[in-house]
Amino acid sequence: MRFYIETLGCQMNVLDSELAASALIRSGLTPAKDKFDADVILFNTCSVRQHAEDKVYSALGRLKVWKDKKPCSVLGVIGCMAQKEQKNIFHRVPFVDFVLGPGSLDALAETVHQLLDEKVSGSRQAKKIVTALNRKGSLHSDLVESYRLYNPDRTQNTAERQSNRETAHPALIRIMFGCNQFCSYCIVPYVRGPEQSRMPEEIIAEVQSLVRQGVSKITFIGQTVNSYIYRDGGKTVKLADLLYEASKITGLEEIDFVTGYPKGVDETLLQAVRDLPKVLKHFHIPAQSGSDNVLKRMNRHYTAAEYRELTDRIYSVIPNSSLTSDFIVGFCGETDEEFEKTVDLVKYCRFRNSFIFKYSVREGTKSAEIYEDDVSEAVKKYRNNRLLEVQKQGACQS
Ligand code: 5AD
Ligand code: SF4
Repeated sequence: MRFYIETLGCQMNVLDSELAASALIRSGLTPAKDKFDADVILFNTCSVRQHAEDKVYSALGRLKVWKDKKPCSVLGVIGCMAQKEQKNIFHRVPFVDFVLGPGSLDALAETVHQLLDEKVSGSRQAKKIVTALNRKGSLHSDLVESYRLYNPDRTQNTAERQSNRETAHPALIRIMFGCNQFCSYCIVPYVRGPEQSRMPEEIIAEVQSLVRQGVSKITFIGQTVNSYIYRDGGKTVKLADLLYEASKITGLEEIDFVTGYPKGVDETLLQAVRDLPKVLKHFHIPAQSGSDNVLKRMNRHYTAAEYRELTDRIYSVIPNSSLTSDFIVGFCGETDEEFEKTVDLVKYCRFRNSFIFKYSVREGTKSAEIYEDDVSEAVKKYRNNRLLEVQKQGACQS
Protein backbone atom coordinates (compact mmCIF):
# COMPACT_ATOMS: atom_id res chain seq x y z
CA MET A 1 0.00 0.00 0.00
CA ARG A 2 1.29 3.45 -0.91
CA PHE A 3 0.72 6.84 0.70
CA TYR A 4 1.10 10.45 -0.38
CA ILE A 5 1.20 13.52 1.86
CA GLU A 6 0.45 16.99 0.54
CA THR A 7 1.79 19.66 2.89
CA LEU A 8 0.56 23.22 3.22
CA GLY A 9 1.58 25.90 5.68
CA CYS A 10 4.51 26.56 7.95
CA GLN A 11 7.63 24.66 9.01
CA MET A 12 5.70 23.01 11.84
CA ASN A 13 3.68 21.26 9.16
CA VAL A 14 6.75 20.41 7.09
CA LEU A 15 8.17 18.68 10.17
CA ASP A 16 4.86 16.99 11.04
CA SER A 17 4.66 15.58 7.50
CA GLU A 18 8.18 14.25 7.84
CA LEU A 19 7.30 12.58 11.15
CA ALA A 20 4.03 11.25 9.72
CA ALA A 21 5.84 9.81 6.68
CA SER A 22 8.36 8.06 8.92
CA ALA A 23 5.59 6.57 11.05
CA LEU A 24 3.70 5.32 7.99
CA ILE A 25 6.86 3.80 6.46
CA ARG A 26 7.61 2.08 9.75
CA SER A 27 4.07 0.70 9.78
CA GLY A 28 4.65 -0.98 6.43
CA LEU A 29 3.38 1.55 3.85
CA THR A 30 5.56 2.92 1.04
CA PRO A 31 5.66 6.48 -0.26
CA ALA A 32 4.02 7.03 -3.67
CA LYS A 33 5.78 9.29 -6.17
CA ASP A 34 2.52 10.31 -7.77
CA LYS A 35 -0.51 11.31 -5.71
CA PHE A 36 -2.99 9.41 -7.88
CA ASP A 37 -1.05 6.14 -7.52
CA ALA A 38 -1.46 6.26 -3.75
CA ASP A 39 -3.92 4.22 -1.69
CA VAL A 40 -3.76 6.72 1.16
CA ILE A 41 -3.74 10.49 0.56
CA LEU A 42 -3.23 12.87 3.45
CA PHE A 43 -3.55 16.65 3.44
CA ASN A 44 -1.50 18.30 6.15
CA THR A 45 -3.33 21.58 6.44
CA CYS A 46 -2.99 25.17 7.63
CA SER A 47 -5.69 27.37 9.21
CA VAL A 48 -3.85 30.62 9.62
CA ARG A 49 -5.74 32.36 6.80
CA GLN A 50 -9.02 31.59 5.03
CA HIS A 51 -7.22 31.27 1.71
CA ALA A 52 -5.25 28.25 3.00
CA GLU A 53 -8.47 26.49 4.00
CA ASP A 54 -10.18 27.29 0.69
CA LYS A 55 -7.23 25.76 -1.15
CA VAL A 56 -7.60 22.51 0.79
CA TYR A 57 -11.34 22.29 0.23
CA SER A 58 -10.94 22.70 -3.52
CA ALA A 59 -8.01 20.25 -3.68
CA LEU A 60 -10.08 17.71 -1.71
CA GLY A 61 -12.99 18.20 -4.09
CA ARG A 62 -10.74 17.35 -7.03
CA LEU A 63 -10.01 13.92 -5.50
CA LYS A 64 -13.56 12.64 -6.08
CA VAL A 65 -12.55 10.80 -9.27
CA TRP A 66 -9.58 9.13 -7.54
CA LYS A 67 -11.81 8.13 -4.63
CA ASP A 68 -14.50 6.69 -6.92
CA LYS A 69 -11.89 4.70 -8.84
CA LYS A 70 -10.33 3.30 -5.66
CA PRO A 71 -13.08 2.43 -3.20
CA CYS A 72 -10.57 0.88 -0.79
CA SER A 73 -8.50 4.05 -0.58
CA VAL A 74 -8.24 6.28 2.48
CA LEU A 75 -8.38 10.08 2.43
CA GLY A 76 -7.41 11.99 5.57
CA VAL A 77 -7.10 15.60 6.66
CA ILE A 78 -4.45 16.20 9.30
CA GLY A 79 -2.94 19.36 10.81
CA CYS A 80 -4.48 22.62 12.01
CA MET A 81 -7.60 22.55 9.86
CA ALA A 82 -8.47 19.09 11.19
CA GLN A 83 -8.42 20.42 14.75
CA LYS A 84 -10.34 23.58 13.82
CA GLU A 85 -12.94 22.25 11.42
CA GLN A 86 -13.44 18.69 12.72
CA LYS A 87 -16.75 17.33 11.39
CA ASN A 88 -17.35 20.35 9.14
CA ILE A 89 -14.85 18.69 6.83
CA PHE A 90 -17.15 15.66 6.43
CA HIS A 91 -20.09 17.98 5.72
CA ARG A 92 -18.23 19.76 2.96
CA VAL A 93 -16.34 16.76 1.55
CA PRO A 94 -18.31 13.60 2.41
CA PHE A 95 -15.71 11.20 0.99
CA VAL A 96 -13.01 12.24 3.48
CA ASP A 97 -12.48 9.26 5.82
CA PHE A 98 -10.81 10.84 8.82
CA VAL A 99 -9.56 14.04 10.40
CA LEU A 100 -6.67 14.02 12.85
CA GLY A 101 -5.35 17.08 14.68
CA PRO A 102 -1.72 18.12 15.24
CA GLY A 103 -1.80 16.98 18.88
CA SER A 104 -2.77 13.43 17.89
CA LEU A 105 -0.11 12.56 15.31
CA ASP A 106 0.96 9.55 17.36
CA ALA A 107 -2.36 7.91 16.45
CA LEU A 108 -1.94 8.41 12.70
CA ALA A 109 -0.50 5.06 11.58
CA GLU A 110 -3.00 3.10 13.64
CA THR A 111 -5.93 5.15 12.31
CA VAL A 112 -4.83 4.71 8.70
CA HIS A 113 -4.38 0.93 9.08
CA GLN A 114 -7.70 0.53 10.85
CA LEU A 115 -9.48 2.32 8.02
CA LEU A 116 -7.61 0.38 5.33
CA ASP A 117 -8.53 -2.91 7.05
CA GLU A 118 -12.16 -1.88 7.36
CA LYS A 119 -12.30 -0.97 3.68
CA VAL A 120 -10.65 -4.17 2.52
CA SER A 121 -12.86 -6.38 4.70
CA GLY A 122 -15.94 -4.37 3.78
CA SER A 123 -16.80 -3.87 7.45
CA ARG A 124 -18.18 -0.76 9.15
CA GLN A 125 -16.85 2.41 7.54
CA ALA A 126 -17.34 5.05 10.20
CA LYS A 127 -15.75 8.44 9.80
CA LYS A 128 -13.06 9.06 12.37
CA ILE A 129 -12.30 12.26 14.26
CA VAL A 130 -9.06 12.14 16.24
CA THR A 131 -8.44 15.52 17.85
CA ALA A 132 -7.26 17.09 21.09
CA LEU A 133 -9.62 18.87 23.49
CA ASN A 134 -10.97 22.28 22.55
CA ARG A 135 -8.96 25.01 24.23
CA LYS A 136 -12.06 26.90 25.28
CA GLY A 137 -13.83 25.23 28.18
CA SER A 138 -11.22 22.55 28.98
CA LEU A 139 -9.23 22.11 32.17
CA HIS A 140 -5.60 23.14 31.58
CA SER A 141 -4.11 19.82 32.74
CA ASP A 142 -6.54 17.79 30.60
CA LEU A 143 -5.85 20.07 27.66
CA VAL A 144 -2.07 19.69 27.93
CA GLU A 145 -2.51 15.93 28.19
CA SER A 146 -4.66 15.87 25.08
CA TYR A 147 -1.97 17.58 22.94
CA ARG A 148 0.49 14.72 22.98
CA LEU A 149 4.16 15.42 22.28
CA TYR A 150 5.27 13.33 19.37
CA ASN A 151 8.96 12.95 18.57
CA PRO A 152 9.55 9.59 16.98
CA ASP A 153 12.69 8.45 15.27
CA ARG A 154 12.70 9.78 11.69
CA THR A 155 15.67 7.89 10.33
CA GLN A 156 14.00 6.88 7.06
CA ASN A 157 13.48 10.37 5.75
CA THR A 158 16.71 11.86 6.97
CA ALA A 159 18.80 9.62 4.79
CA GLU A 160 16.80 10.68 1.74
CA ARG A 161 16.97 14.38 2.56
CA GLN A 162 20.70 14.28 3.22
CA SER A 163 21.53 12.51 -0.04
CA ASN A 164 22.77 15.84 -1.34
CA ARG A 165 24.42 17.44 1.65
CA GLU A 166 25.21 20.74 -0.09
CA THR A 167 21.65 21.56 -1.07
CA ALA A 168 19.92 19.86 1.84
CA HIS A 169 17.51 22.01 3.83
CA PRO A 170 18.31 22.28 7.50
CA ALA A 171 16.75 19.52 9.60
CA LEU A 172 13.86 20.91 11.64
CA ILE A 173 13.89 20.18 15.34
CA ARG A 174 10.88 21.14 17.38
CA ILE A 175 11.87 22.49 20.76
CA MET A 176 8.43 23.61 21.87
CA PHE A 177 4.82 23.00 21.01
CA GLY A 178 1.83 25.32 21.04
CA CYS A 179 1.42 28.99 21.88
CA ASN A 180 0.13 30.95 24.88
CA GLN A 181 0.18 34.43 23.36
CA PHE A 182 -3.39 34.62 22.07
CA CYS A 183 -2.80 37.40 19.56
CA SER A 184 -6.39 38.45 18.88
CA TYR A 185 -6.33 37.52 15.16
CA CYS A 186 -4.59 34.16 15.44
CA ILE A 187 -6.04 30.65 15.41
CA VAL A 188 -2.77 28.90 16.35
CA PRO A 189 -3.24 28.76 20.16
CA TYR A 190 -6.60 27.07 19.60
CA VAL A 191 -5.39 24.46 17.13
CA ARG A 192 -1.84 23.79 18.34
CA GLY A 193 -2.67 23.92 22.03
CA PRO A 194 -0.83 25.22 25.09
CA GLU A 195 2.92 25.89 25.17
CA GLN A 196 4.99 22.86 26.12
CA SER A 197 8.79 22.94 26.05
CA ARG A 198 10.55 19.68 25.31
CA MET A 199 13.10 18.18 27.64
CA PRO A 200 16.57 19.57 26.71
CA GLU A 201 18.30 16.18 26.90
CA GLU A 202 15.80 14.81 24.39
CA ILE A 203 16.38 17.74 22.00
CA ILE A 204 20.16 17.41 22.14
CA ALA A 205 19.95 13.64 21.69
CA GLU A 206 17.81 14.22 18.59
CA VAL A 207 20.38 16.65 17.17
CA GLN A 208 23.19 14.17 17.87
CA SER A 209 21.28 11.39 16.17
CA LEU A 210 20.58 13.54 13.10
CA VAL A 211 24.24 14.60 12.89
CA ARG A 212 25.29 10.94 13.02
CA GLN A 213 23.04 10.43 9.98
CA GLY A 214 24.83 13.19 8.07
CA VAL A 215 22.85 16.32 8.97
CA SER A 216 25.04 19.42 9.21
CA LYS A 217 22.43 22.19 9.49
CA ILE A 218 19.54 22.41 11.91
CA THR A 219 16.73 24.83 12.69
CA PHE A 220 15.15 24.84 16.12
CA ILE A 221 11.47 25.56 15.64
CA GLY A 222 8.69 26.74 17.90
CA GLN A 223 5.75 29.14 17.59
CA THR A 224 7.51 31.56 19.98
CA VAL A 225 10.90 29.94 20.09
CA ASN A 226 12.49 32.38 22.52
CA SER A 227 9.84 31.51 25.12
CA TYR A 228 11.45 28.06 25.37
CA ILE A 229 11.87 27.28 29.05
CA TYR A 230 12.38 23.95 30.76
CA ARG A 231 12.39 23.74 34.54
CA ASP A 232 13.86 20.69 36.17
CA GLY A 233 14.11 20.94 39.94
CA GLY A 234 16.18 24.04 40.60
CA LYS A 235 17.55 24.17 37.04
CA THR A 236 16.10 26.31 34.25
CA VAL A 237 17.08 25.74 30.62
CA LYS A 238 16.38 28.43 28.01
CA LEU A 239 16.96 28.79 24.27
CA ALA A 240 20.45 30.25 24.77
CA ASP A 241 21.44 27.16 26.78
CA LEU A 242 20.25 24.89 23.97
CA LEU A 243 22.33 26.90 21.49
CA TYR A 244 25.45 26.48 23.66
CA GLU A 245 24.82 22.73 24.05
CA ALA A 246 24.09 22.11 20.37
CA SER A 247 27.17 24.11 19.37
CA LYS A 248 29.36 21.56 21.11
CA ILE A 249 28.26 18.79 18.75
CA THR A 250 31.06 17.86 16.38
CA GLY A 251 29.91 17.68 12.77
CA LEU A 252 27.09 20.19 13.24
CA GLU A 253 27.91 23.31 11.23
CA GLU A 254 24.91 25.62 11.31
CA ILE A 255 22.12 26.38 13.78
CA ASP A 256 19.13 28.66 13.19
CA PHE A 257 15.95 29.22 15.21
CA VAL A 258 12.43 30.46 14.33
CA THR A 259 9.95 32.05 15.11
CA GLY A 260 10.78 34.71 17.66
CA TYR A 261 8.39 36.79 19.73
CA PRO A 262 9.42 40.43 20.38
CA LYS A 263 9.13 40.09 24.15
CA GLY A 264 11.66 37.99 26.03
CA VAL A 265 14.61 38.39 23.67
CA ASP A 266 17.11 38.67 26.53
CA GLU A 267 20.78 39.66 26.64
CA THR A 268 21.84 36.06 27.21
CA LEU A 269 20.25 35.03 23.93
CA LEU A 270 21.87 37.91 22.03
CA GLN A 271 25.26 37.07 23.52
CA ALA A 272 24.86 33.40 22.60
CA VAL A 273 24.06 34.31 18.99
CA ARG A 274 26.99 36.73 18.92
CA ASP A 275 29.50 34.36 20.48
CA LEU A 276 28.63 31.01 18.91
CA PRO A 277 30.10 30.75 15.40
CA LYS A 278 27.70 27.97 14.37
CA VAL A 279 24.60 30.04 15.14
CA LEU A 280 23.27 32.08 12.22
CA LYS A 281 23.17 35.81 12.92
CA HIS A 282 19.52 35.91 11.97
CA PHE A 283 16.36 36.77 13.88
CA HIS A 284 12.86 36.26 12.53
CA ILE A 285 10.78 38.33 14.91
CA PRO A 286 7.35 39.30 13.57
CA ALA A 287 6.39 42.90 14.40
CA GLN A 288 2.88 42.62 12.81
CA SER A 289 2.27 46.40 12.93
CA GLY A 290 4.01 49.69 13.63
CA SER A 291 0.98 51.32 15.24
CA ASP A 292 0.52 51.15 19.01
CA ASN A 293 -3.26 51.23 18.63
CA VAL A 294 -3.25 48.31 16.22
CA LEU A 295 -0.75 46.37 18.34
CA LYS A 296 -3.07 46.85 21.29
CA ARG A 297 -6.07 45.58 19.35
CA MET A 298 -3.91 42.67 18.21
CA ASN A 299 -3.08 41.90 21.87
CA ARG A 300 0.66 41.89 21.16
CA HIS A 301 1.85 43.30 24.53
CA TYR A 302 4.53 45.68 23.16
CA THR A 303 4.67 49.10 21.56
CA ALA A 304 6.29 50.11 18.28
CA ALA A 305 8.96 51.98 20.28
CA GLU A 306 9.76 48.81 22.21
CA TYR A 307 10.08 46.89 18.94
CA ARG A 308 12.44 49.58 17.58
CA GLU A 309 14.52 49.36 20.76
CA LEU A 310 14.73 45.61 20.31
CA THR A 311 16.10 45.97 16.78
CA ASP A 312 18.54 48.66 18.02
CA ARG A 313 19.75 46.26 20.70
CA ILE A 314 20.19 43.42 18.20
CA TYR A 315 22.13 45.58 15.74
CA SER A 316 24.30 46.99 18.50
CA VAL A 317 25.23 43.60 20.01
CA ILE A 318 25.51 41.84 16.62
CA PRO A 319 26.13 44.50 13.95
CA ASN A 320 26.15 42.01 11.07
CA SER A 321 22.85 40.36 12.04
CA SER A 322 19.92 40.12 9.66
CA LEU A 323 16.35 40.63 10.75
CA THR A 324 13.15 39.40 9.14
CA SER A 325 9.56 40.09 10.12
CA ASP A 326 5.88 39.37 9.44
CA PHE A 327 3.21 42.06 9.07
CA ILE A 328 -0.56 41.97 8.88
CA VAL A 329 -2.13 44.79 6.86
CA GLY A 330 -5.78 45.81 6.99
CA PHE A 331 -6.37 44.58 10.52
CA CYS A 332 -9.75 45.60 11.99
CA GLY A 333 -10.06 49.36 12.19
CA GLU A 334 -6.59 50.07 10.71
CA THR A 335 -6.64 53.68 9.49
CA ASP A 336 -4.35 55.20 6.83
CA GLU A 337 -2.45 56.90 9.63
CA GLU A 338 -1.98 53.66 11.54
CA PHE A 339 -0.80 51.90 8.39
CA GLU A 340 1.74 54.69 7.77
CA LYS A 341 3.24 53.90 11.18
CA THR A 342 3.91 50.37 9.90
CA VAL A 343 5.58 51.87 6.83
CA ASP A 344 7.77 53.96 9.15
CA LEU A 345 8.71 50.88 11.18
CA VAL A 346 9.72 48.93 8.08
CA LYS A 347 11.88 51.85 6.95
CA TYR A 348 13.50 52.10 10.37
CA CYS A 349 14.28 48.44 11.03
CA ARG A 350 16.21 47.57 7.83
CA PHE A 351 14.70 44.08 7.59
CA ARG A 352 16.34 41.71 5.15
CA ASN A 353 12.83 40.55 4.31
CA SER A 354 9.26 41.04 5.45
CA PHE A 355 6.39 38.63 4.95
CA ILE A 356 3.21 40.61 4.50
CA PHE A 357 -0.30 39.23 4.94
CA LYS A 358 -3.75 40.69 4.48
CA TYR A 359 -5.87 40.26 7.59
CA SER A 360 -8.13 37.23 7.36
CA VAL A 361 -10.94 36.69 9.87
CA ARG A 362 -10.54 33.42 11.80
CA GLU A 363 -13.70 32.20 13.43
CA GLY A 364 -13.13 31.42 17.11
CA THR A 365 -10.51 34.15 17.67
CA LYS A 366 -11.00 37.26 19.81
CA SER A 367 -10.78 39.71 16.91
CA ALA A 368 -13.44 37.81 14.98
CA GLU A 369 -15.64 38.08 18.04
CA ILE A 370 -15.15 41.72 19.04
CA TYR A 371 -13.99 43.70 15.98
CA GLU A 372 -15.35 44.27 12.54
CA ASP A 373 -13.31 43.28 9.50
CA ASP A 374 -13.91 46.78 8.15
CA VAL A 375 -10.91 47.42 5.87
CA SER A 376 -11.93 46.73 2.28
CA GLU A 377 -10.17 44.09 0.21
CA ALA A 378 -8.98 46.81 -2.19
CA VAL A 379 -7.36 48.78 0.64
CA LYS A 380 -5.78 45.62 2.08
CA LYS A 381 -4.34 44.87 -1.35
CA TYR A 382 -3.02 48.39 -1.78
CA ARG A 383 -1.38 48.36 1.67
CA ASN A 384 0.10 44.94 0.99
CA ASN A 385 1.72 46.12 -2.26
CA ARG A 386 2.84 49.41 -0.77
CA LEU A 387 4.54 47.71 2.17
CA LEU A 388 6.22 45.21 -0.15
CA GLU A 389 7.61 48.13 -2.16
CA VAL A 390 8.88 49.90 0.96
CA GLN A 391 10.48 46.65 2.15
CA LYS A 392 12.14 46.11 -1.23
CA GLN A 393 13.57 49.62 -1.29
CA GLY A 394 14.84 49.50 2.27
CA ALA A 395 15.98 45.88 2.38
CA CYS A 396 19.16 45.35 4.30
CA GLN A 397 21.63 43.24 2.32
CA SER A 398 23.46 41.61 5.22
N1 5AD B 1 -4.73 36.96 9.07
C1 5AD B 1 -3.62 37.27 8.37
N2 5AD B 1 -2.39 36.90 8.75
C2 5AD B 1 -2.27 36.17 9.87
N3 5AD B 1 -1.19 35.66 10.50
C3 5AD B 1 -1.61 34.99 11.58
N4 5AD B 1 -2.95 35.04 11.68
C4 5AD B 1 -3.39 35.79 10.64
C5 5AD B 1 -4.67 36.22 10.20
N5 5AD B 1 -5.78 35.92 10.87
C6 5AD B 1 0.18 35.91 10.04
C7 5AD B 1 1.04 36.59 11.10
C8 5AD B 1 1.95 35.47 11.53
C9 5AD B 1 2.10 34.68 10.25
C10 5AD B 1 2.60 33.30 10.42
O1 5AD B 1 0.80 34.66 9.74
O2 5AD B 1 1.78 37.62 10.49
O3 5AD B 1 3.20 35.95 12.02
FE1 SF4 C 1 -0.24 33.29 16.63
FE2 SF4 C 1 0.64 35.30 18.15
FE3 SF4 C 1 1.15 32.73 18.86
FE4 SF4 C 1 2.40 33.79 16.73
S1 SF4 C 1 2.59 34.50 18.87
S2 SF4 C 1 1.40 31.77 16.85
S3 SF4 C 1 0.82 35.17 15.89
S4 SF4 C 1 -0.88 33.74 18.77
